[in-house]
Amino acid sequence: MAELEETQDELAKQRDQLQDSLSKTEEAQQEIAIQRDQLQVEVMRKTQEMLKTERLSTIGNLAARIAHDLRNPLSVIQSTSQILKIKLETNLDDKTREQWARLDRAVYRMSHQLEDVMDYVRMSPLKKRDYSLCVILQDVVERIVRPENIVIKLPQNDRIIFCDPEKLEIVFVNLLMNAIQSLENNGVVSIGIFDDPQDQNNVLVKVSDTGVGIASEIHEKIFEPLFTTKQVGTGLGLSSCKNIIEQHGGTVSVSSSVGKGATFTITIPKKSEWDSIATKPGNLTQIKPS
Ligand SMILES: Nc1ncnc2c1ncn2[C@@H]1O[C@H](COP(=O)(O)OP(=O)(O)O)[C@@H](O)[C@H]1O
Ligand SMILES: [Mg+2]
Repeated sequence: MAELEETQDELAKQRDQLQDSLSKTEEAQQEIAIQRDQLQVEVMRKTQEMLKTERLSTIGNLAARIAHDLRNPLSVIQSTSQILKIKLETNLDDKTREQWARLDRAVYRMSHQLEDVMDYVRMSPLKKRDYSLCVILQDVVERIVRPENIVIKLPQNDRIIFCDPEKLEIVFVNLLMNAIQSLENNGVVSIGIFDDPQDQNNVLVKVSDTGVGIASEIHEKIFEPLFTTKQVGTGLGLSSCKNIIEQHGGTVSVSSSVGKGATFTITIPKKSEWDSIATKPGNLTQIKPS
C-alpha cells in the first residue's frame, strides 16, 4: 500500500514537472514568436532602406553623368560666345551687347550649378599633401568673379596643413560665393586663420561677411543637401563643404543673425592621427580612411 502511494506521489511529481516544462516551452514559443515578428519587421525595414539607398545612389549617378555630359557642350557655348564677341565687338549696338551679357551670365550660372552637382556627388578619396592655407585662399580669391565694391580681406598669417588642396578650394569657393551673394553688391568678406584654443592640433579658418545674415531657425538646415533660399541656388554648396571638411576629420559651423552678417568657422586638424601612422617609416602601405 505504502509502495502504491509512493508511486502515486512520484507520478504526481513527474506530472507537475511535465506541466512546468510544458508551460516553459509555451513561454519560449511565445518569446520566439515575438522575436520572429520583430525580425520580420526589421528585415522589412532594412530592405526598404536598402532599396531607398540604391534608388538614391542611382539618382546620384544619373545626376553626376548628366552634369558631366553637359559640361563639355556648355564650355563650347562659352568659348564660342567669347570668340564671336571678339569678332563682332565693334559692330554691336547697346541692346545686342546687353543681350550678349545676359547670355554670358546664364552660361556662367549654369556652369556653377553643374560644378555644385559634380562637387556634391564626387566623393572621391582625398589626395593629401602638406600645403599652405594662404596659397589655397589666394588661388580661390583670384578665381572668383565679384562686383568691384566687394572687398575680400585675406589673412596675414599662414599655416601648413596636411590636406587635399583641390578639395579645400571647393570649400572656400563655396563659402566665398555664398558670402559675396549675401552682400548684394557691396561689403566686406574677411578670412582669418587661427590656432584652435581648445586643441592645438587644429587650425580654425573663419570666413565672415557683412551680408544679410541667417535666421537662427535655419542654422542646422543650411548644411542639408538641397536646402536653399535662393531662386537659382542648388542647395548643395554647404553640404559639399561639410562632406569635404568631415573627410579631413574637421567640422564646419555657422554663427549669424539676420542683418548682422555671418561667420562660418572651419576646424581642421593640421595632421590627423591616421596621417601620422601612415607617414611613419615602415607604415607607408597602411590604408588610410578617406
Ligand atoms: N554667407 C551667407 N550669408 C547668408 N546666408 C547664407 C550664407 N551662406 C549660406 N547661406 C544660406 O544657406 C543656404 C544654403 O547654401 P548653399 O548650400 O551654399 O546653397 P545655395 O548657395 O545654392 O543656396 C543659402 O541658400 C542661404 O540661405
Ligand atoms: Mg552656395
